[in-house]
Amino acid sequence: MHFVPDEKILILDFGSQVTQLIARRVRELEVYCEIHPYSMSIEAIREFAPNGIILSGSPASLGKEGAPLPTEEVYKVGVPVLGICYGLQVTTHLLGGQVEQADHREYGHAMLQIDDSAGLFEGLDSEVQVWMSHGDRISGLPNGFRRIAHTSNSPLAAIANEKNTVFGVQFHPEVVHTPCGKQILSNFVRGVCGLHAEWTMESFVERTVAEIREKVGPEGRAICGLSGGVDSSVAAVLVHKAIGDRLHCIYVDAGIMREGETEQVEKTFREHFHMNLTVVRAGEMFLERLAGESDPEKKRKIIGNTFIDVFDEEARKLGGADYLVQGTLYPDVIESVSVKGPSVTIKTHHNVGGLPEKMKLKLIEPLRELFKDEVRAVGAAMDMPREVLWRQPFPGPGLAIRVLGAVSPERLAVLRKADLIFDEEIRGAGLYDQLWQSFVVLLPVKTVGVMGDERTYEDVCALRAVTSEDAMTADWARLPYELLAKVSSRIINEVRGINRVTYDITSKPPGTIEWE
Ligand code: XMP
Repeated sequence: MHFVPDEKILILDFGSQVTQLIARRVRELEVYCEIHPYSMSIEAIREFAPNGIILSGSPASLGKEGAPLPTEEVYKVGVPVLGICYGLQVTTHLLGGQVEQADHREYGHAMLQIDDSAGLFEGLDSEVQVWMSHGDRISGLPNGFRRIAHTSNSPLAAIANEKNTVFGVQFHPEVVHTPCGKQILSNFVRGVCGLHAEWTMESFVERTVAEIREKVGPEGRAICGLSGGVDSSVAAVLVHKAIGDRLHCIYVDAGIMREGETEQVEKTFREHFHMNLTVVRAGEMFLERLAGESDPEKKRKIIGNTFIDVFDEEARKLGGADYLVQGTLYPDVIESVSVKGPSVTIKTHHNVGGLPEKMKLKLIEPLRELFKDEVRAVGAAMDMPREVLWRQPFPGPGLAIRVLGAVSPERLAVLRKADLIFDEEIRGAGLYDQLWQSFVVLLPVKTVGVMGDERTYEDVCALRAVTSEDAMTADWARLPYELLAKVSSRIINEVRGINRVTYDITSKPPGTIEWE
């Protein structure tokens, strides 16, 4: 299924770290866009039928062999083109201008002097701050182009061929360090391309629901594995809106969930949304298979495989289905043309990969075109509760990777109690929404303590709280001492089995967010 509005922008990606930001800015303007690899064929571009094309930046240099180039036909599609940074250089190179390697790189803030404030720079002051990050620069205009802005270091910092509506800027309008960047992108998307604000979450819900209905037909049935997380929850509610009781949700309680989590899922989906929900209490099976295993990757594998077995069995009991609903998001879909090569696997993230093949199901992925913040907006447009939409991420293998080493029901129970206390205090202090994640880790280390007149010899736990934008990097949260003191004293007083509380002050990198 591919929900695509009538008006849209195509972003060709040359491997810049910030290509996704271009897409987010365009979507913030309520105009739909998609990112595709720079090598997209002209036939595919024509079929996509964009109303405007943006060429992204890149760490590559045109001076080096193998520099990525798009089809030259991209300028003949008959729609406006905007090149950003490397995209400007590519445009210059392909249309007959000159690109040279500058004496030094220009990186950081620069003042842009605007020579012509019509069109792309409509409504801006004559001098604005922009963000630069480039080595090469252009030294000769392509035919039919003129300069529309410069900086002290880039005599041709922005160029235009108004007749053919082709533009290029050396700086990055998509980053926050270019404060007027959104206006420039708006001038391109709304002004030059003439597009309207069509991409609203209400319109998305309406059209997606209609599409799912058509795809599944009047008899088709779907199943969805709910995890309690934002993505699968929003996907399920969306599909439920389309096909009602012909959607059946399955929630597997693997015995590695936090306190009250299963009940919360039941409340939201059964009571609030009146959806078909089967809760499978399979904790015993998971814990039996996990018994004695202390290797984090093996634990993940056991959990992933057991999940598939349980889910498969449950779906069979329901009498089969034609479709599987998954909460895949756009960042998972974007075909990266990253020049860095495949990144090393630090941790394998278990998900339900392998299920659709095994069960011979067709997929419904209604969130494939959305970024995370858009998913939340879709949820809000469908009146989903705030606690569900703004829940902190929780890993698939759950508490099994927070009980370090071998997992047992007893250790899980101890961790659950401590985790609930930390969670209550974080929420009570009004910090929950500001933190990417906050949780407790139970260590396989015993220490000596004294309580009353008695010697204790019990486990240590670590509190972990981080701030982050996307989990790729994270910083340990500077929680108030008073809060840490209260959590420590509550855990030691209220949780039998823990007699020492520590706070993790490691950022990512070099640490990871989870301990296993
Ligand atoms: P790390 O620990 O790698 O975590 O810094 C980054 C983000 O991913 C989550 N995480 C997982 N999620 N299955 C998941 O679904 C996993 O095996 C897994 N391991 C880590 C982690 O909670 C953080 O949000």
